[in-house]
Parts: sequence; C-alpha cells; structure tokens
Amino acid sequence: MLIENGTIAAIANALPASGAQVIDASGSYVFPGFIDPHTHLDMPFGGTVTADDFASGTGAAALGGTTTIVDFALHQRGNSLANALATWEKKAAGKASIDYAFHLTIADGRPETLEEIPVMIEREGVNSFKCFMAYKHILQVDDETIFRVMQAAAKFGGLVQVHAENGDVIEVTVKDALAEGLTAPKYHALTRPVQLEMEATARAIWMAEVAGAPLYVVHVSSAGAADAISDGRKRGLPIYGETCPQYLVCDTSDYDRPAFAGANYVMSPPLREKWNQNVLIAKLKNGELQAVGSDHCSFNCGQKALGKDDFSKIPNGAPTIEDRVAILYERTVNTGAIGLNQFVALAATNPAKLFGLFPRKGTIAVGSDGDLVVWDPAATRTISAATHHMAADNSIFEGMTVRGTPRYVFSRGRLLVEGGKYVGETGRGIRQKSAPFRPVQL
Ligand code: URP
Ligand code: ZN
Ligand code: ZN
Repeated sequence: MLIENGTIAAIANALPASGAQVIDASGSYVFPGFIDPHTHLDMPFGGTVTADDFASGTGAAALGGTTTIVDFALHQRGNSLANALATWEKKAAGKASIDYAFHLTIADGRPETLEEIPVMIEREGVNSFKCFMAYKHILQVDDETIFRVMQAAAKFGGLVQVHAENGDVIEVTVKDALAEGLTAPKYHALTRPVQLEMEATARAIWMAEVAGAPLYVVHVSSAGAADAISDGRKRGLPIYGETCPQYLVCDTSDYDRPAFAGANYVMSPPLREKWNQNVLIAKLKNGELQAVGSDHCSFNCGQKALGKDDFSKIPNGAPTIEDRVAILYERTVNTGAIGLNQFVALAATNPAKLFGLFPRKGTIAVGSDGDLVVWDPAATRTISAATHHMAADNSIFEGMTVRGTPRYVFSRGRLLVEGGKYVGETGRGIRQKSAPFRPVQL
C-alpha cells in the first residue's frame, strides 16, 4: 500500500519503495482507521463539563486506533443550530489530533430550527440530528418535535438519531425513589427499567415509519430494545442500531461496587443484566445492530460526587473513547463470536457510510484517506485509569486484559501512534463534512 499526500495512492502485491518510508506490518492486521460515531467532548452536562476536551479526548482516541470521531454539537433551546455548530467547531479547531465531524442535537421544534435542518445538511455538512426522549427539563424533546424533525430529515437527506428512554416516566420513578430515601447509584438503573427503553425505541420506530424517515437508535443497551430494531428492519424500514462497549462487558452488578465506585457506571441507558450482552453480540454478528460507538462522556470521581446523596445528580457517562475498539475486538473477534470483516464494518465502515464519510473514511481503497491502523493481534494490555490517556481518573474497564492493540496509527498518512505512544503533532485534525444521508443496506 502506497500513501501519497495523505491518501492511498496504490495497493499492490509489490510497490517500488525508493524514497518512501517503509512500515513493516508483518504479523499484524492492517485495518482502516476506526471511526467512533458517538462522542461527547468538552460538553456541559449534569451540572459540570466533561473531563475530556478535544485535545485529551482525540489523543486518547488515536492511541486506541480511532482516527475519526463524530461528536455531538449541543443545540440550546431558543438558539440556532448554526450557533451550536459554530460553538463546537471552536472547541475542536486546533485541538483535535484526529479528524472529526459533527452531529447536532435538537433542543426545540420551532419553525426556525426546522428551517435550519436543510441548511445544515446541504451547506454545513451535518447529516444527523439527535432527539432526546429522556433527560426531562434538560435535553428531552416531545414527540411533536421528534416527528417534525423526522419529516424534515426525510425530505432533505438527514438521519434522525434518538436517545430512546421514556423520560416522562423516568421523572416519576426517580421522584418516587428519592421520596423513599433511595439515593445510592444502583437506583439510577432501578428507576430506568428496560421496558422504558423498549417502549421509547418502538415508539421512535413507529413515528419514523409514519414520517417515512430513516432512524439511528444510539446506545442500545438491552436485548429488548435491540429486538424492537430487528422488528422494524424486518418490516423493511431503514432503521439502524448502535451499541457501545460498556453494554458488552459491564452489567448491573457494577452499581454495587463499594465506596461510591458504582457512580462511575452511571450512564443512560443504564447497564443491564449480564444476559443481555450475548444477545447484543449476536445482533452485532448477524447485522441486526450496525455500529459500535463509545458514547464517551467522561467525568472525574470528584464530578461524580455531585450525586453523593442523590443518584439523580450523578453526571451521566463514562470514559470509553480509548478502549472502544480493544473491548469490541476482545469481546467479539478474540472469542470467535464475530469475524474480522464484520468487526471492521461495525467499528469503521458502517459509521462512515451512515454519517456521510464513506469512501473517504472507513475503508482501505485507492483514493481514500491514509487513515490506517496496523494492529498487533498478539499484544496484550491491562486497562487501567492509572495508564490510560483520557483525562478521567476512573475507568469502567479497570483491570480488564485485552489482546490486540495498535502498533501504528496513521491519520492521512501521518504517523500518530507508535508502540503505544502518541508521536504525532497535536491539533492536526480536520473538520470533515458529512454527505447527505442515503439509506444504505447494512
Ligand atoms: O450517559 C450518557 N449516555 N451520557 C452521554 C449523553 C447521552 O445520552 O448520550
Ligand atoms: Zn443519549
Ligand atoms: Zn451519548
């Protein structure tokens, strides 16, 4: 493979090497740079701001083999989508070490907001819009808003994403638990039962069907929600589902960890009973779920302590951007559950196709960007907050040993990572514009 001026110029059995830097990939796989379709960097949330900004977050991502992220720019109620995008572009510019694109969240369904959707798609290179069905009084929007966003997306080439949990019911279950004095982290999970994810997932799918809109369900945590997606797909609908590494290896028992460590596992949707994990993996294998995103949203223990006396005040999210690929590989390829091609599809190619970055990203082909991971399948490492490169002082994967790690990582032909060390320039990441969404068979 020859990379010239940042793109793949040739792929052949033999290539003249004179004048070129030669990388020895013997004993390794060469994968397309991995794409994380779901990150939250430098994001105000839960009364604080995420521990990782675009500098620390993308550096850690690169060390894990991720060469492109799609981050969420947060729309503020009553404000414009253009402002949200400009705010996030400013956060990333000059700080991101890998390439990045944006999704927009939608905070209201005002006519002005809806009118901006085609502008974002056609002019600004944003092809996806997330509606929150939970986090009442904060990010949640009502069904009317979701439906109107779906109509606009269907018309102009957008992909609607949903955070599928029933926020109205959760508001009640949380109030009831707190009134009974139930304040520990485990009540985060107990007040967000799986039925509320299943109901919201199914509701979003039915709404998308009526609107004639494609739908991407983010962070699917349970077998029941994944089944709702499978049902929609069986009806021939363009419905796509994403799960995250945390739902493949962590479970409800993590909330019982002593000394408030359970708070580090507080995320939404919450971790589920362990048996769900094998169902999610089976669905990743057979293509009923199409992508694995990190949902990286990192907080330090000190920030998690905001909810010391009230689980509902624990900032939701965990540091996962660095270990997404390794956990997926360990849990699927190393166990023989999933083959290499499907692994690459889930972690790189499908996200690129869904979010308008393919074939520039997500594949190894002549003309594509020289984003490559030389992956040593034999090297092992044990994940720990003491050695990871994310800013957070905790890891939900603490102590897990994974086999398979990046030996070299290239971004547009430039070496970023060698032997577990970041050796690239910082802040070299380029904003990627997403092409409008077109339904793809995945
Ligand atoms: O707990 C989570 N998932 N935090 C990030 C925000 C979101 O809902 O994606
Ligand atoms: Zn969400
Ligand atoms: Zn998220």
